[in-house]
Amino acid sequence: MKILGIETSCDETSAAVYETERGFPGTLKSSIVASQTLLHARFGGVVPELSARAHIERLPAVVSEALNVAGCRAVDLDAIAVTVRPGLLSALLCGMAYARGLAMATGRPLYAVDHVKAHVASAFLNPTGPDGDDPSTAMEGQVPAATGMSCGRPLSPSDFPVSALVASGGHTLLVTLKSPVDFELIGTTRDDAVGEAFDKVGQLLGLPFPGGPNVEREAKLGDPAAFRFPIGVIRGSPFDFSFSGLKTAVLYKLAKMPAREVRRRRADVAASFQSAAISALVDRAVKVVRSTGSRVFVLCGGVAANRALRSAMADALAREGASLCMPPLAYCGDTGAQVAVYAYFLIAAGAAPASADLDAETVSELFASAGSAEGG
Ligand code: KG4
Ligand code: ZN
Repeated sequence: MKILGIETSCDETSAAVYETERGFPGTLKSSIVASQTLLHARFGGVVPELSARAHIERLPAVVSEALNVAGCRAVDLDAIAVTVRPGLLSALLCGMAYARGLAMATGRPLYAVDHVKAHVASAFLNPTGPDGDDPSTAMEGQVPAATGMSCGRPLSPSDFPVSALVASGGHTLLVTLKSPVDFELIGTTRDDAVGEAFDKVGQLLGLPFPGGPNVEREAKLGDPAAFRFPIGVIRGSPFDFSFSGLKTAVLYKLAKMPAREVRRRRADVAASFQSAAISALVDRAVKVVRSTGSRVFVLCGGVAANRALRSAMADALAREGASLCMPPLAYCGDTGAQVAVYAYFLIAAGAAPASADLDAETVSELFASAGSAEGG
């Protein structure tokens, strides 16, 4: 079975082909990511209309490159999968329209994928395992993502039940899973997502967009114990997060420093902020592992590319006697690869293809039943 995954929920236009012959594990045949970082950099954040326009321009080349690298044509596909929620509405609609058109033209079934759930499926990807070499390819003129695992191991279907943390620019969620497609939400952020806090602190420190990877780079040069920043705790909700107090504490600390001092202590502020953010994530991971008795914990989402977080999480979970599973570094962000792999598990679980009235949603299915309104 060959599945094409398409992702356009935010500022990456991505497509990938995942192929399985006899179930899991299959082979990731291609993974193309066209990042829009340069496009949005001068605005200091993602501009939805620019993002949608770039998706429309790039989708044909990204999808045809994914098919070329995989050595197949659209008619050879067995299924097409696309992110339909959560994310920027105008961006989601681009990928959906393209995927819907391709499904109609080829007569192949279309599967609707929730981006947050697909992040967990990215942990199944194993570029050093039976899949062989990592096929991850950046589009021409772009910096390729870091490769390899750094630590942890890929997830396997035999690991379930598991618990997981999705840490991205729009979400900070704790979930438990009975199977790759059966999720229960147990914690979320009450205000900012952790990636959003990284991006904001990057901006406050005058680092380039996006803040996350640049704060990590700066933090390597600083002392994580230089400043004590607060770790948000929600009384009575041990699995929920809060990052706005941490962000504001960094803002006030910097506001009290003369400009020259800000430049001199930039690495110390970055390291101290990163250390507090990591402590909050590790603290909840340990709590969830203790309370559920999970032997396997999954860390995923764009922030999971942070090496300091990966290693702190690995150490803490090892002390709990639990294993840490993570996506390879190149697959922590938004990729068509995670969409295709998640769709494989959806199909294996007998999910029905999307109906003709399929629509994009800004909120994850995980919140739909709870009636919450955390954004993409
Ligand atoms: O999952 P993702 O690519 O997109 C969303 O679904 O939001 O996550 C993007 C977020 C951004 O906030 C970005 O700054 C953050 O992940 N991020 C990082 C790192 N790489 C990306 N945060 C901390 N350290 C990193 N190395
Ligand atoms: Zn994401």
